[in-house]
Amino acid sequence: MMTKDQIGFRYQKVFGEKATYIVRSPGRINIIGEHTDYNEGFVLPTAIDKGVYVAVAKRDDDLVRLYAESFEELFEVKLSDVEALPEGWQNYVLGVVGELRERGYELGGFNLYLDGDIPVGAGLSSSAAVECATGFALNVLFDLAIDRIAIALIGQQAEHKYAGVQCGIMDQFASAMSRAGQVIKLDCRDLSFSYKPLELGDYTILLLNTNVNHSLASSAYNERRKSCERSVGLVQGKFQDVISLRDVTLTMLEECVERIDNEAYIKSKFVLEENQRVEKACEFLENGNLDMLGSLLYEAHTGLSNEYEVSCVELDFLVEYVKQFPEVLGARMMGGGFGGCTINLVHKSFEDLLIERLVPVYKERFGLSLTAIKVVPSNGTEVLL
Ligand code: GLA
Repeated sequence: MMTKDQIGFRYQKVFGEKATYIVRSPGRINIIGEHTDYNEGFVLPTAIDKGVYVAVAKRDDDLVRLYAESFEELFEVKLSDVEALPEGWQNYVLGVVGELRERGYELGGFNLYLDGDIPVGAGLSSSAAVECATGFALNVLFDLAIDRIAIALIGQQAEHKYAGVQCGIMDQFASAMSRAGQVIKLDCRDLSFSYKPLELGDYTILLLNTNVNHSLASSAYNERRKSCERSVGLVQGKFQDVISLRDVTLTMLEECVERIDNEAYIKSKFVLEENQRVEKACEFLENGNLDMLGSLLYEAHTGLSNEYEVSCVELDFLVEYVKQFPEVLGARMMGGGFGGCTINLVHKSFEDLLIERLVPVYKERFGLSLTAIKVVPSNGTEVLL
């Protein structure tokens, strides 16, 4: 973790004065419930101990000046000229600024310094963390009195309009709302949620980062979303009350979608099953039935890979490889897909050994280094005092 003093010191080096606020927003894991959020389904995420740090102070003029440590790049724009750029890290900050202005919040010029320790492209939601950190920092800096969930929703809109990814609410919600040692069971239909203790006994969660980030990820993501919407449209032809896949049953899919749009049928069937897996996972967590929880992870991966088609060879390889070890209860790809991490439920005594075994095998197979990330379920966004 980075410290408040480190971030404050570096802010001062760039902007020549002291920061007023320093905010930390974490990345996230998701136990299960993938590609369900934008279908008004369930997810089971929590924050991790890796995050994005934002330091801010007001300016006397109407300029927005941003500095990203990892790009060593300074960016400047007039507040009234803020708009989406064709690409770049700035969009996650500018998107939040733009969305706040759109909602009528009064902002002034400000300096913002950005740094973090979430590996980018690992599927740990560094972009949502930037959005939430920016939202929280501007909220306190300009006294906007916006609540946490509203900040998460603003972050999601920033992602849609500035980064061009039609994401659900899971990542921003987890970054803003998580509590240490717990997971959030979130109903993405109405944003009702409850915290559940993440008690894994002798087991632990280990992330294995493929270190690949296939470039088609965001367009493929938006396509998946469209397939699900096509199903809803077809079902609505017969069942007018249906709003989202959440209202759809397997029978409805078979009746209205299967023969007309098989692609949409397969994708939507996965979503229905994935929602059921979240429910089951909660039960298994509550009863301490970790074997069954692990099996669910493997099952989810098979669906994500073969049906939802958001995996890749590297992810499939990692999941297949760990199946041979009884000390690993389950594994699956995590997040949007096409690269990033697998999430593994591993016996504590086997964690280091597994990493030792896998790193050279992965290197030999793909010519890439595999990085292991030990997860500590952590608090959501915090203003560091
Ligand atoms: C990305 C999106 C989330 C969610 C996941 C898949 O992380 O940002 O909203 O859809 O993919 O579960």
